[in-house]
Amino acid sequence: MKAQYWISSLVVILIVFISLSSCKSGGGDKIKVGEFASLTGKEATFGTSAHEGTLLAIEQVNLSGGVLGKQLELLTEDDQTKAGEPANAVNKLISKDGVIAILGEVASSRSLEAAPICQQSQIPMISPASTNPTVTQEGNYIFRVCFNDDFQGGALANFASGTLKAKKVAILTDVKSDYSKGLAKSFKAKYSNNGGNIGTELDFNGGDKDFKGQLTAIKSDNPDAIFLPGYYNDVALICIQAKQLGMNIPIFGGDGWESESLLTIGKDAMEGHYFSTHCSIEQPTPEMTAFVAAYQKRFEGKTPDAMAVLGYDSAMVLVDAIKRAKTTESVALRDAIAATKNFAGASGNINLNADRDAVKALVFIQIKNEKFTYNTTVNP
Ligand code: PHE
Repeated sequence: MKAQYWISSLVVILIVFISLSSCKSGGGDKIKVGEFASLTGKEATFGTSAHEGTLLAIEQVNLSGGVLGKQLELLTEDDQTKAGEPANAVNKLISKDGVIAILGEVASSRSLEAAPICQQSQIPMISPASTNPTVTQEGNYIFRVCFNDDFQGGALANFASGTLKAKKVAILTDVKSDYSKGLAKSFKAKYSNNGGNIGTELDFNGGDKDFKGQLTAIKSDNPDAIFLPGYYNDVALICIQAKQLGMNIPIFGGDGWESESLLTIGKDAMEGHYFSTHCSIEQPTPEMTAFVAAYQKRFEGKTPDAMAVLGYDSAMVLVDAIKRAKTTESVALRDAIAATKNFAGASGNINLNADRDAVKALVFIQIKNEKFTYNTTVNP
């Protein structure tokens, strides 16, 4: 009787011990980092690329021993490229999962949806690639590791006046996208200032399939170039239809063009057109070279795009800030992120200014023989 009692007590103690220790290694002692991304839906290449870069960074940090003596755990939510989902995603990550920070999104409209929630919860959010100026204006917990569209729009305007020598530019804006509207606005301000003439200005809704009406109107106005601040899938269709209408003026846009899908959809209709973006893997710094090699090893030889590079940098900037803060407590962590200076990122040196935006160079890419070809660099 006595022996049986002792054995069963021992079993109970053992079970309690095992479950406690497995709980510790099974997540209780990890630093939880949240991510929301468009892994599926219309802009799936944006989210997939950013996620892969982010994941690579987290895996590298964990392999080298983690941070503050702990491993990182990345919790990723797919917002499906759908309005309404970013809010659901970050609410879950913050309230249910208890993440210490949030990485995301690429598209400005989706970052703008999540930012007020992160700000209110005092959870730092770092966007890898959202460039609309208002994103970081949501509050002092909201950061980005890329330049904003006041800079990009200005660089595009100077490109139109200088490189293209365009006297009149038509503009086609996606009214569903805060990115497109914001970039059109900053382009117009600078281009007019340069003495340029804004020709026909027309709208479309991201996801439209027929742009012939707008393009025909633009054609009859006879501009020197078309400014198209859109995302790759719409851009490719617009360039195909412009070519079908026999228009052979340059079409140019911003970072939203960057995706391999631009070339697979647009093919030879993309020939000669230009866009600005965050970096070119043809311009390798030691950090970029190391990143490209590690990414290709991890993702079966796939070539990284800007979103992958920036996703990686967003995670590395967070880790660097946790190290400097020596804590994941929210106020200290926010202050440490805000103090990021001269961080050697894969996309370039990252210096956050007082507006929590990175001050960085931009590159122009021209499409030649269905390939992205480095054109020029514009310094801030
Ligand atoms: N800058 C775009 C936005 O703010 C997103 C983007 C970044 C798209 C980088 C492609 C490459 O919406």
